[in-house]
Amino acid sequence: MSQPYYSPSAVMASPINIPGHPSVSPTALGGSLHDRIRHRDSLSFVGAIRQPKVLHPVENEDLKLLILENISQEAVRAFQAQGFHVDHSAKAMSEDELVEKIGQYHAIGIRSKTKITERVIKAAHKLLVIGCFCIGTNQVDLLTAAKAGIPVFNSPFSNSRSVAELVISEVIALSRQLFQRAHEMRSGLWNKQSKGCWEVRGKTLGIVGYGHIGAQLSVLAEALAMRVIFYDVIPIMPLGSARQVETLAALLGEADFVSLHVPELPETINMISKEQLDLMKKGSYLINNARGRVVDIPALIEAVQSKHLAGAAIDVYPMEPSANGAPFDDQINSWASTLCQLPNVILSPHIGGSTEEAQSMIGDEVSSAVSRYLNSGTTIGAVNFPEVDLRAITSEQGDHIRICHVHNNKPGVLRQVNEILSPYNVEKQYSDSKGDIAYLLADIADVSSKDINKLRETISHTSANILTRLLA
Ligand SMILES: NC(=O)c1ccc[n+]([C@@H]2O[C@H](COP(=O)([O-])OP(=O)(O)OC[C@H]3O[C@@H](n4cnc5c(N)ncnc54)[C@H](O)[C@@H]3O)[C@@H](O)[C@H]2O)c1
Repeated sequence: MSQPYYSPSAVMASPINIPGHPSVSPTALGGSLHDRIRHRDSLSFVGAIRQPKVLHPVENEDLKLLILENISQEAVRAFQAQGFHVDHSAKAMSEDELVEKIGQYHAIGIRSKTKITERVIKAAHKLLVIGCFCIGTNQVDLLTAAKAGIPVFNSPFSNSRSVAELVISEVIALSRQLFQRAHEMRSGLWNKQSKGCWEVRGKTLGIVGYGHIGAQLSVLAEALAMRVIFYDVIPIMPLGSARQVETLAALLGEADFVSLHVPELPETINMISKEQLDLMKKGSYLINNARGRVVDIPALIEAVQSKHLAGAAIDVYPMEPSANGAPFDDQINSWASTLCQLPNVILSPHIGGSTEEAQSMIGDEVSSAVSRYLNSGTTIGAVNFPEVDLRAITSEQGDHIRICHVHNNKPGVLRQVNEILSPYNVEKQYSDSKGDIAYLLADIADVSSKDINKLRETISHTSANILTRLLA
């Protein structure tokens, strides 16, 4: 499942949302910060902000959340503050435990150890949403979840800063042979030397993949007076004085440090192999905090052994142990023991994004996405679902209701639903589809409490219905 990608330039172009006004694209405004501020002023919205109405499911059933794997306490408190009943545990649950318990819950929050399989989803009669409080979503059967009308949210970019900072530490540590000296000291050897040790000031950092992490790294490296060049498959507005180069070969031939920040895709597997390592400058360094299969490690071992490269830092591996305490040896990757013997090669156990700050940001982001879905039906950021949002119903619009209708993506469904809605005033609606699943959000005005249940019943009985929720 591809994850949403936002380039730094795309982030700059995100819509301006002003309550009570249609959202406005900054590009349509000319894009500059000044244009944006001028436009906000011209709307003279100050003092006219309308409060959004807090919506509740019309079933009026208390929503129950199951939060596993020691997810941040702030996230648990945020859910509780909204009136949700939260059962939380530090542990993961096995498939059998989940099958037994999941039936009573409307939402579940997990990390990577709890597997949400087809069997679990079939037992999850009330489940509305899954929050993965981590980067990946491989632990969830995304397709089965989507078919059951269950969006899955994660937090793909909350740890970008943590990775970028780790890379900066590796750049300096490699340049000063710090890990080797520290290792020698621990074995009782004093070995003070400056040969082959350099300041990073004025050196060139080549960033491959200028997305969330690459762009953060670019800013940090310039603060150290490094020159920054980058290669990316799409043209991206450079930050600061960074410069985009046309080809990977051009980057490899110019950089003193090459740092990889691309996703794992068929075209990025082994994108750094013998041919590319040969193109790197003699005495340069390779850093991989992206994905293990992006580098051909036996070729890297040769490049370090031949002293063509002065060192490397590796945080990710083609095969990684599944639990802390497990060995990292030749059984898991056939070259592991050779790699561990190399001088000036820093090896870390996939800790690029592992900081307390990143965990806390993940907690905020995923708990907000889960709450937004439960409270207002918004699916922006869902990995397996059409992404749909509507401007909030305001507190003055007391008799407005929101219809959240997940259905099979078939011709004629919208006509059917709109016929049901035709006696009412449809204030706004938006529909989108992803594969076989489509999702409609519609806000309806002036609906009596008597009509609410009738509306839900009728829409739920349409032929393509997967799930219909009404929020009032
Ligand atoms: N070590 C860790 O703990 C850790 C933590 C977070 C992310 N990561 C990994 O870091 C990598 C980058 O993450 P991100 O959040 O910056 O991703 P991102 O999607 O924001 O950026 C990736 C960039 O790579 C570019 N790209 C794609 N294919 C390319 C190619 N063939 N050549 C050059 N550029 C290409 C994209 O255009 C994009 O700009 C991912 O592989 C991610 O899984 C590792």
